[in-house]
Amino acid sequence: MNRYLVPASLLGTAVGGAVLFKDYVSGGACPSKATIQGKTVIVTGANTGIGKQTALELARRGGNIILACRDMEKCEAAAKDIRRETLNHCVNARRLDLASLKSIREFAAKIIEEEERVHVLVNNAAVMRCPHWTTEDGFEIQLGVNHLGHFLLTNLLLDKLKASAPSRIINLSSLAHIAGHIDFDDLNWEKRKYDTKAAYCQSKLAVVLFTKELSRRLQGVCVASVFP
Ligand SMILES: NC(=O)c1ccc[n+]([C@@H]2O[C@H](COP(=O)([O-])OP(=O)(O)OC[C@H]3O[C@@H](n4cnc5c(N)ncnc54)[C@H](OP(=O)(O)O)[C@@H]3O)[C@@H](O)[C@H]2O)c1
Repeated sequence: MNRYLVPASLLGTAVGGAVLFKDYVSGGACPSKATIQGKTVIVTGANTGIGKQTALELARRGGNIILACRDMEKCEAAAKDIRRETLNHCVNARRLDLASLKSIREFAAKIIEEEERVHVLVNNAAVMRCPHWTTEDGFEIQLGVNHLGHFLLTNLLLDKLKASAPSRIINLSSLAHIAGHIDFDDLNWEKRKYDTKAAYCQSKLAVVLFTKELSRRLQGVCVASVFP
């Protein structure tokens, strides 16, 4: 046997392990070098977490980014951070409260009036495992914000997205959808004892089902749900 074989394979294992460990501790990274100059992107819940990182990365790639958030102070601060970090000045804050159908309609009307195109809609915002609260319109909060709010927003912007094809709708779901069950007789948990975890799973299953059906119906608009 070649006397270098064992040391070489040990070295290979060590280097491979180090690369995997680095990936694990630093998190994933998108290897694509694609840029999106001239593309308009809306990210909901973009003032923090995954939404802010998504907006930052897309701003770095040259897009015209609209941060859609319920708290304008946090939204403006995030837009400022992203502009400073990426030197992309086409990053703007707009008010959108997904727990209010009125706010969603106002936001969409402004987008339709002011934006010539919308190429990407990232439905990212969510509430998780909260008490039995309801939205302004009386829906159970997790279903209301995570699914129904985005459902209305997407439908209001659909003509704009179709006119901007090839375009994309990305819905943030969760592996939690696997445990989800939709109780069509009691969507708002009025007849059962509230289970916040099951309500979150229900809302994320609704997101996945909406994505599948929308994707089946649309041509020219790519619709996908992701577990981040
Ligand atoms: N993080 C994970 O491990 C994980 C796992 C599975 C799935 N996900 C999904 O990934 C997405 C992002 O998760 P994340 O961890 O980044 O969440 P996060 O840090 O909690 O951020 C959630 C965002 O949604 C916004 N939001 C909440 N209610 C809203 C409303 N009524 N109107 C508008 N915006 C509202 C929040 O705004 P405020 O700052 O004003 O509250 C915040 O910007 C969510 O859809 C989540 O379900 C995350």
